[in-house]
Amino acid sequence: MILAANFKMNHTRASTRAYLQRLNSIEKPAHIDLFVFPPFTALDSYESIATIGAQNAYCAESGSYTGEIGLAQLREFGIETLILGHSERRHIFGESQELIAQKFAFYKEQGFTIFYCIGETLEVKERGEDAIHIYLQKQLEGIDTSYDKLIIAYEPVWAIGTGKSATPEDIEKILAFLASHTDAPLLYGGSVKPANIAEILRIPRCAGALIGTASWDVESFIEMIQIAKEI
Ligand code: PGA
Repeated sequence: MILAANFKMNHTRASTRAYLQRLNSIEKPAHIDLFVFPPFTALDSYESIATIGAQNAYCAESGSYTGEIGLAQLREFGIETLILGHSERRHIFGESQELIAQKFAFYKEQGFTIFYCIGETLEVKERGEDAIHIYLQKQLEGIDTSYDKLIIAYEPVWAIGTGKSATPEDIEKILAFLASHTDAPLLYGGSVKPANIAEILRIPRCAGALIGTASWDVESFIEMIQIAKEI
């Protein structure tokens, strides 16, 4: 099982260090792989029971890409795990499927573990199941879904940061659809919290969760790890 904390633009270097120290004080359940994705400025070579990853990176070793970081900056801290295609990158920062696929190809070549995010908007959801399938398939365009270090996170855009998670029935249907396209572990993300994580982790084919808001407080993340331990 996989539990991943996406800090987004939260936490500083100092608070990330304190967070990871507290996380290290628990015993990592043997069957749970933990990941933490701090903001760029808080990346470092931490001793941690969680694998540290980056929330994004440009597809080059280094170069003239103002505001970006690339392979050289990740290598400095031994980081080999990356989120790509997060809905906030797609919708707020306008990343195209083409750019995301280029990043994917570059970091796949480098052997990175890639958390690849896909998910439909509310407008697409309201058009029904076929529309959702077509939309998700487009987000897999140019992505090697047989890559052995690929993890797919299904995160409906309307459920991210809204407190409104998708229903277990809806998630189950989408995960079944995705499983017909890939053998990659499938996560759910979108308003996962201590109150709903148990029912989400019990959904068939759900290999874990990518958690934003409810992961920023380390005690809440630990609570979810303890709940997951019993599943
Ligand atoms: P959320 O974010 O848990 O705050 O909904 C999830 C994500 O964006 O990965």
